[in-house]
Amino acid sequence: MERILIIGSLGQIGSELVMALRKKYGNGNVFATDIKNPGEEIRNSGPFQILDVLDYKNLLHFIVRHHITQIYNLAAVLSGNAEKIPLQAWEINMKALMNTLEAARQSEAKKMFWPSSIAVFGPTTPRHNTPQLTIMEPNTVYGISKLAGERWGEYYTRRYDVDFRSVRYPGLISYKTEPGGGTTDYAVEIFFDAIKKGSYECFLSKNTALPMMFMDDAIDNTIRLMEADASKLSLRSAYNMAGISFTPNELAESIQKRLPEFNISYQPDFRQTIADSWPASIDDHIARHDWGLNTKFDIEKMVGLMLEKVKEKLK
Ligand code: NAD
Ligand code: SER
Repeated sequence: MERILIIGSLGQIGSELVMALRKKYGNGNVFATDIKNPGEEIRNSGPFQILDVLDYKNLLHFIVRHHITQIYNLAAVLSGNAEKIPLQAWEINMKALMNTLEAARQSEAKKMFWPSSIAVFGPTTPRHNTPQLTIMEPNTVYGISKLAGERWGEYYTRRYDVDFRSVRYPGLISYKTEPGGGTTDYAVEIFFDAIKKGSYECFLSKNTALPMMFMDDAIDNTIRLMEADASKLSLRSAYNMAGISFTPNELAESIQKRLPEFNISYQPDFRQTIADSWPASIDDHIARHDWGLNTKFDIEKMVGLMLEKVKEKLK
């Protein structure tokens, strides 16, 4: 029986991943942890404990005491926030990963998931249909930490018997929990402002294309990767994951089909430079081949559902 630890479980991804894993593996077998207090859904549906991933002793103790078999580590400082505190962000992101890799090595919880990002690519990477293996010279502290993290994950799999698995998530779009300070957050904020105010001031420019994915697709595929037969995985760094690519203008046009009065204006800030260094679209055929990466949401389906759910949430 699997016993699963989720670190950083109350963020944009964790709050949905916990519930999906509890449904699949049983509420009592999915241990949600974070450094802040949970809302009702997570607290009432299964075990929750405050746990700081930077505290190695406590982390290892928790894993051993609860007979954990799998770890998902979601704790990180995201791209926009990391640029405001570069050294601190580097220390947090790397220590969070290294503590988890070490805890996996020293315990029975060998299988672990840690997300990488499209931020591993940089301005010298081919921008369109970016291949899995290509030039990687990230110029953000977040991207540098993700690229280093991928290398360490592969190293621990090859050198020790840790079963590290990862994907390069595109920007994730969801309505349950606010995003945590990334460059792709505009694609969530826009829905809340469209419903609340009928307008949105975007911090990226009109034609900045970025790869994105609806959260349901991200969660399904994360679990699919973790359940894949190890012998099928040709990569132990992180798999490219494409999703859907669009610009703020294209997203606004899709919203306008349903809310004709909605208008968007553009006021690019420091996150524009970050977005300009990332791919516009990604090639993910290796993930599709190795473990069956499969997405269901295109832009129209995603926009329709987001507007409906954000409306319900704001009522
Ligand atoms: P988030 O910021 O929404 O959530 C992170 C969670 O980690 C928060 O609940 C926070 O309280 C917790 N946390 C912070 N420091 C901690 C610590 N020391 N110990 C334990 N918990 C701590 O982030 P997210 O969007 O859910 O992203 C999760 C992971 O996925 C990150 O590694 C991020 O880089 C990666 N990722 C996210 C996206 C995206 O679009 N959301 C895209 C690519 C990669
Ligand atoms: N959504 C994330 C960010 O913008 C990508 O890793 O930071």
